[in-house]
Amino acid sequence: MANSTNRPPRITVNGEDAPISPAAPHTTVLDFLRERGLTGTKEGCAEGECGACSVLVARPGVNKPTDWVAVNACLVPVVALDGQEIVTSEGLATTGEPGARPALHPVQEEMAVRGGSQCGYCTPGFVCSMAAEYYRPDRCAHADPSSASDPAEHVDAEHGPNGFDLHALSGNLCRCTGYRPIRDAAFAVGAPTDDDPLARRREQVPPAPVATVYTQDDRAFVRKDTLAETLRLLRERPDAIVVAGSTDWGVEVNIRSRRADCVVAVDRLPELRELRVASDHVEVGAALTLTEIERRLDGRVPLLAELFPQFASRLIRNSATLGGNLGTGSPIGDTPPVLLALEASVVLADADGEREVPLAEYFTGYRQSVRRPGELIRAVRVPLPLARTTAFHKIAKRRFDDISSVAVAFALDIEDGTVRTARIGLGGVAATPIRALAAEAALEGEPWSAETVENAAQVLRAQGTPMDDHRASAAYRSAMLGQSLLKLYAKTTEAVSA
Ligand SMILES: Cc1cc2nc3c(=O)[nH]c(=O)nc-3n(C[C@H](O)[C@H](O)[C@H](O)COP(=O)(O)OP(=O)(O)OC[C@H]3O[C@@H](n4cnc5c(N)ncnc54)[C@H](O)[C@@H]3O)c2cc1C
Ligand code: FES
Ligand code: FES
Repeated sequence: MANSTNRPPRITVNGEDAPISPAAPHTTVLDFLRERGLTGTKEGCAEGECGACSVLVARPGVNKPTDWVAVNACLVPVVALDGQEIVTSEGLATTGEPGARPALHPVQEEMAVRGGSQCGYCTPGFVCSMAAEYYRPDRCAHADPSSASDPAEHVDAEHGPNGFDLHALSGNLCRCTGYRPIRDAAFAVGAPTDDDPLARRREQVPPAPVATVYTQDDRAFVRKDTLAETLRLLRERPDAIVVAGSTDWGVEVNIRSRRADCVVAVDRLPELRELRVASDHVEVGAALTLTEIERRLDGRVPLLAELFPQFASRLIRNSATLGGNLGTGSPIGDTPPVLLALEASVVLADADGEREVPLAEYFTGYRQSVRRPGELIRAVRVPLPLARTTAFHKIAKRRFDDISSVAVAFALDIEDGTVRTARIGLGGVAATPIRALAAEAALEGEPWSAETVENAAQVLRAQGTPMDDHRASAAYRSAMLGQSLLKLYAKTTEAVSA
């Protein structure tokens, strides 16, 4: 990491250098941009729900040195991007001679000609999310007419003939155009040309993370170079708020006006960003974003692969981390049920060293865990081999981009028609995520039959202590637990009879 602790923090916006001072340490990228006159970036909700604030950030790439990643500018403090490079909707159009009209970017052009914009409030956000997908290297292969791959192979309701994955727009809302013209625009974009500056930029590495100390009015934002330095700081400042992707913390700042005297960023620490596959486990760094994990695992852990598309939107997954999801200790976080079913453990680190805690022993009460002050989640370990029959059922009011009312993850090993092992993780039915131990016992050693499943579903309905709230009634939550097991059974027997 470069060190900026002796110089004022700055970022590059649309190719121009911009000092961050005098913004406050909690000032969001959105407010910073608008203050500079870049008012294309809009505020709709200020809580990550609408995508009107989407901008592109140059991040370490999965298939190329740099990926252009779309993020919610309303959630990220601008100082968290010290030394980084962003592009807004204004920066997508190409300016020619002074006074000449800028040439629209291909995604802007398609949105305009296909009627993808009416009032236009959501349009800059859509355009940025669409541009991130436009530049995704493995999409471009399908969009390039000279490519050997047959585009028809990949086309379905959510993927265009140009490889465009509509989930890229799952975090963007439009109130007046209707989504069909926007989808038409997305499915019409081609591959970037050779002289496209943002496509060429992907061939160079992104800016390295920069160590930052930014203090104003006794409030500080700090990013250290290494895990060891960060852990020493957390020992000195046990009151510090740790942030990674800021998708939870950003909502606290914007909606609940929370402020911290000291915020410590961990999202770029190399020690928290490794993904290792060993012979007996997969270790996933706590600060990898969910998008990075999804793309780098590429289906290797099928239960996680089933979870990712159901977790928030692509915009949120581009910033959200596993460490943040476990760090909140929320009983309705989506990764704990899955990780419980996978029998994962959490690697905790403090200035004295590391310890590994099974996730089943990690949560101790409502938003409480065994994690001590000054301790960080460094990684999550998933043991191998994996169970062969798995499923994740998220019951929520909307199919995508919603918080669970209840979530159930199954990992079963069924051999010769008998359930050898059963692991079931539940969210939304108790003060903490829990294992459904009684239902697991009702399955283990039994034939995988309608009768066993009916009995175990009955047991599963009685697990936890679900509550009535605005999302769902307790009775509904219990009913959904049993239904989930019946659904899994129906799926496995359908697969056999097909
Ligand atoms: C619009 C929207 C939709 C969402 N949808 C979902 C959803 O579908 N499912 C779901 O589960 N969640 C959802 N969330 C919540 C949020 O995105 C997740 O909890 C996410 O995983 C948080 O990760 P983060 O890196 O952004 O955390 P941050 O906001 O950076 O941090 C969250 C908390 O975790 C702690 N923390 C972060 N990293 C570490 C670490 N390495 N060690 C110890 N503590 C750490 C921080 O101190 C902080 O208290 C949603 C949020 C929004 C705004
Ligand atoms: S303003 Fe709605 S997601 Fe940022
Ligand atoms: S064009 Fe009006 S909100 Fe989308």
